[in-house]
Amino acid sequence: MLKKISSFAEYQQVYKESTENPEKFWDEIAQSFLWKKPYNKVLEWNFTEPNIKWFLGGKLNITENIFERNLPKFAQKTAIIFEPNDNKEASYSLTYQQLFEKVCQFSNTLTNLGIQKGDCVAIYMPMIPEAIIAMLACARIGAVHSVVFGGFSAQSLADRINDAGAKLLITADGVFRGAKSVPLKEIADKALEKCPTIQKNIVFQRTKEPIAMQKDRDIWWHKAILDVENTHNSVEMDAEDMLFILYTSGSTGKPKGVVHTTAGYMIYTQYSFENVFQYDPNSNDIYFCTADVGWITGHSYITYAPLLAGATIVVYEGIPTFPNAGRFWEIIDKYAVTHFYTAPTAIRALQALGLEPVLPHKLDTLKVLGSVGEPINVEAWEWYFENIGKKRCPIVDTWWQTETGGILISPLAGITPLKPAFATLPFPGVMPILVDNEGKELLGNGVEGNLCIKFPFPSMLRTTFGDHERCKQTYFSTYPNLYFTGDGAKRDEDGYYRILGRVDDVINVSGHRLGTAEIENAINENALVVESAVVGYPHDIKGQGIYAYIILKSEAKNMSETNIKADILKTVQEVIGAIAKPDKILLVNGLPKTRSGKIMRRILRKIAEGEHNIANFGDITTLLNPEIVEEILKSSKV
Ligand code: PRX
Repeated sequence: MLKKISSFAEYQQVYKESTENPEKFWDEIAQSFLWKKPYNKVLEWNFTEPNIKWFLGGKLNITENIFERNLPKFAQKTAIIFEPNDNKEASYSLTYQQLFEKVCQFSNTLTNLGIQKGDCVAIYMPMIPEAIIAMLACARIGAVHSVVFGGFSAQSLADRINDAGAKLLITADGVFRGAKSVPLKEIADKALEKCPTIQKNIVFQRTKEPIAMQKDRDIWWHKAILDVENTHNSVEMDAEDMLFILYTSGSTGKPKGVVHTTAGYMIYTQYSFENVFQYDPNSNDIYFCTADVGWITGHSYITYAPLLAGATIVVYEGIPTFPNAGRFWEIIDKYAVTHFYTAPTAIRALQALGLEPVLPHKLDTLKVLGSVGEPINVEAWEWYFENIGKKRCPIVDTWWQTETGGILISPLAGITPLKPAFATLPFPGVMPILVDNEGKELLGNGVEGNLCIKFPFPSMLRTTFGDHERCKQTYFSTYPNLYFTGDGAKRDEDGYYRILGRVDDVINVSGHRLGTAEIENAINENALVVESAVVGYPHDIKGQGIYAYIILKSEAKNMSETNIKADILKTVQEVIGAIAKPDKILLVNGLPKTRSGKIMRRILRKIAEGEHNIANFGDITTLLNPEIVEEILKSSKV
């Protein structure tokens, strides 16, 4: 266990020290980890190139810190409790020793297949322990994993595999999702038609539905591990060697591969996990995070940090509403969960179904609740606090991003005084600032602006894979010498932060991050479409919904609107995945454009939000085609 903050006064003191001398602060925390060779310098950085390096010269392996470091104490402790999609199927658990042996065996399997340090391995898996075993085995042999969320389409999977030049894919025959199953292998097969770098494909048998195996390329997981040794000496990694790539959406172009490296990520995630959640590995604490390993939360706060901390985690394969809307609460009671971490979307969706599914469950083991992924509205916060936490459990509203690797602004459970919908205060070592649109720092409290970070913290992204310039342009160029988060925030009179949401063209749909340009590109691939513009709008359950304005080709005029819309949705599902399907489509004859040809999204956002008064649209006289605004407005009301 790392140094634990145990009172608010101590937090204030630790925070002060961490910002006055960050290198000394992180150096002390780093001492609790296993190093194969000590580092000789804590930090080297500039935000102009950017160049960010932590624990320079240090050699280590992150899985040695999960296993060899923890095993003397936790060998027989449960590491993973697996809860299948179907609550009638038997659940099972793995101790740290058993998990270690499985990871070692799979590490040897990967090596046998020719995977070496530095190679990229793509993982496209259901939410099952094998996804975690695959990630950890990659980390153990120094291969870089790129996990692709199982809900993404063949095209999205292929794009990610090709961008990283992955050599191996690890997937499953299928994935159970509530009452249905999705044929993962079939989707992977389609992707692999376009992936020349993939040499082998390991397939885990989960749904047992019949699938085609391609000779010389596809290997069953259970066959690949047969007779493979379950001991393995971990590969030595440099502190700054790549640990993983995770693709995420931005305001322009295709998703980019956010790169995280080994030591800084390891140290920051474990330290933040233990302190934000006040998780105690020496007690009976059971931690249940409902995220998927395809997202950063599943990397940092399911796989790495909890296992580094020696925690017992619940891995749940299914969805919140199967076989009924009480499933999360049933799981909490079944395993005596103490720490529960989920997304506002799930809370709102369950809240909308009323208290009936909640009431049969005791929920009396819960100590801490968490929220992540999008702003939580006050109503949902209060519902969660009262009905799930029974007014007894603090809610940690954790703000962070794929790029930050770990939680940056959050209460510490039971320590930081809470305010509904506020992420509250920065974590030790994190130095947020708010700036206006010109980059001028907004000093004092009671201000609102663009949220930036002015000093590096160990788990921040180092680059975007294969394109360092893109990393620089996206995050470090908007405001010189600052990391720009893309979020707007307010700092209230008490210095508490409230995250207001994205200020760029990124939308957050049910906690899934999507770029409007990315969705437009997908829509435009439909043969009936001339042009499209996508904006987000407030949605009661999803946080934000997707609103698409679409101009059709003349040949579509003879088709029914229902068929056209269905066809467009199908295209989006094929290009990105079901999560990117627009909630509303408005067929229009034109889009409001400036004289330089740029779509004026501000107006489209207003219409999508339900604003009917043109006087509230701001200046539209600079438009090339001001008359289109009235026309769109009229058809939006139909
Ligand atoms: O807009 C913020 C929102 O999610 C974005 C990051 O998305 P992603 O990289 O997918 O990571 C999500 C999981 C960490 C942020 O820029 N966001 C995340 N957490 C919160 C949040 N917005 C408000 N409150 C939060 N707690």
